[in-house]
Amino acid sequence: MGKALVVYAGRSGETERIAGLIAEGIRIQGSEASVVNVTEVKKVDDLAGFDAYVFGSATYHGEMMQGMKTMLFLAEKTDLEGKVGGAFGAFGWSGEAPGRIFDTMKNILKTDMVNGPLMLKSALLGGGIEMAQGYGKDIAKKL
Ligand SMILES: Cc1cc2nc3c(=O)[nH]c(=O)nc-3n(C[C@H](O)[C@H](O)[C@H](O)COP(=O)(O)O)c2cc1C
Repeated sequence: MGKALVVYAGRSGETERIAGLIAEGIRIQGSEASVVNVTEVKKVDDLAGFDAYVFGSATYHGEMMQGMKTMLFLAEKTDLEGKVGGAFGAFGWSGEAPGRIFDTMKNILKTDMVNGPLMLKSALLGGGIEMAQGYGKDIAKKL
């Protein structure tokens, strides 16, 4: 049991959909999950009080979205050390964002990361639903 915060940064809905599926997986496993758009995370307090943090961004022009970069700087000011962590994102061909988020969480926030980053071209194709829900289940199992 525990509470997870899933934060997504996207533009056309795919990363948001993955965020929702990860949250479903967390809940299936018996934990709580809140899903928020990165634009709703404005102050340090907005990140307080969770046992797991799952951050995701779509990749645009080889990078994570600006909102997620800004939020990671905000997260640096909090103490998330030892909390469970995960990273995800939709991508088209190169998919830099999930790996960058994963590495930043591991090295700077010092969260206890699950597996590797979850990268999906589409939540709805090629087993995406199961993979995203499975990622959420793996997060919850670490809680
Ligand atoms: C202008 C533009 C630039 C993009 N740049 C990249 C890129 O550099 N690498 C990549 O893997 N995908 C890139 N994509 C594809 C998006 O990551 C992909 O469409 C993704 O599903 C969008 O997620 P979202 O719906 O959460 O915004 C780009 C898409 C657009 C429209």
